[in-house]
Amino acid sequence: MSILVTGGAGYIGSHMVLELISAGEEVVVLDNLTTGFRASVAKEAKLVIGDIGDQELVEQIIREHGVEAVIHFAGSIIVPESVTDPLKYYSNNTAKSRDLLAACVACGVKHFIFSSSAAVYGNPETNPVFEDARLEPVSPYGTSKLMTELMLRDVSAAHDISYAALRYFNVAGADPRGRIGQSTPEATHLIKVACQAALGARPFMEVYGTDYPTGDGTCIRDYIHVSDLARAHLLALVHMRENSGNIVMNCGYGRGFSVLEVVKAVEKAAGHGFDVRMAPRRAGDPAAIVAGAGFVRDVLGWKPEHDDLCEIVAHAYAWEHRLVTSKSAA
Ligand code: UFG
Repeated sequence: MSILVTGGAGYIGSHMVLELISAGEEVVVLDNLTTGFRASVAKEAKLVIGDIGDQELVEQIIREHGVEAVIHFAGSIIVPESVTDPLKYYSNNTAKSRDLLAACVACGVKHFIFSSSAAVYGNPETNPVFEDARLEPVSPYGTSKLMTELMLRDVSAAHDISYAALRYFNVAGADPRGRIGQSTPEATHLIKVACQAALGARPFMEVYGTDYPTGDGTCIRDYIHVSDLARAHLLALVHMRENSGNIVMNCGYGRGFSVLEVVKAVEKAAGHGFDVRMAPRRAGDPAAIVAGAGFVRDVLGWKPEHDDLCEIVAHAYAWEHRLVTSKSAA
């Protein structure tokens, strides 16, 4: 029996593969390498280069490797891009998830773990935001994830497949042992951007909005270490093997940091300041979003190991340093 990880050459997927392998699981990765990297896939995993929308290929992989569970990361993740090109998101995130699910149902896959997002909540009325809050995405990205959650609900009611939809908050950091990290050069995520600016890989960074109704006027987010997130998936898999029913849960630590607090943590990791410019608000940013995080701990027994902003930033910085130095050596 094996576990199929879609998008396993990407940022979160590649950390998931490491987690599964250290737990002794057999792993097959399906990735089309449009944003993922072959080198990010642990050598113990089998890598198939192909598309999740290729139902024939997926069925062949499931049968050949006796796939018991699918952990589905493949998809598009840039929120502003989803606003300008929504059909790309409804294709990559929704329609192709439908095709992947069809292959799972046809081949009798038992469990499906889906990388959902806090974006399904949109602008929450209160923080922390719990799983039963109103689902009102404010971007096609969030809607594309919510549509897949709804498909999963219906498919699992009709067929013998259980699912976990894990709603990620702000995923950051890198493998503590420095093997992999966030490698996408044009990433837009705050911690990556700030590390690039501190390392001189970009001339400066901008803080989008300083007039939010928060303590220091900048947005608040719940940053979760990518390795802790991968561990939550592994625990979800174990839980699904031992229990019937489905799980929908937030993955965050339940506490938030402002953009300026993140900048300070990056300055600390770098040992110096860097060019940080105050800029207008970015469209679509909620002022604050923090996970109601009790469920993942209570149901899965999840105990985060890296719930420390300075540690998350230090790991991200170390990875970025490696990327910058290997590029300048090339
Ligand atoms: N930010 C800056 N400057 C930058 C980049 C980001 O000030 O150069 C700010 C943003 O305005 C925001 C905060 O830093 O206030 C975090 O921004 P990110 O782009 O890192 O992350 P988001 O909160 O926008 O997005 C995250 C996930 C998405 C998910 C969304 C749901 O990355 O996948 O949360 O709220 F959809």
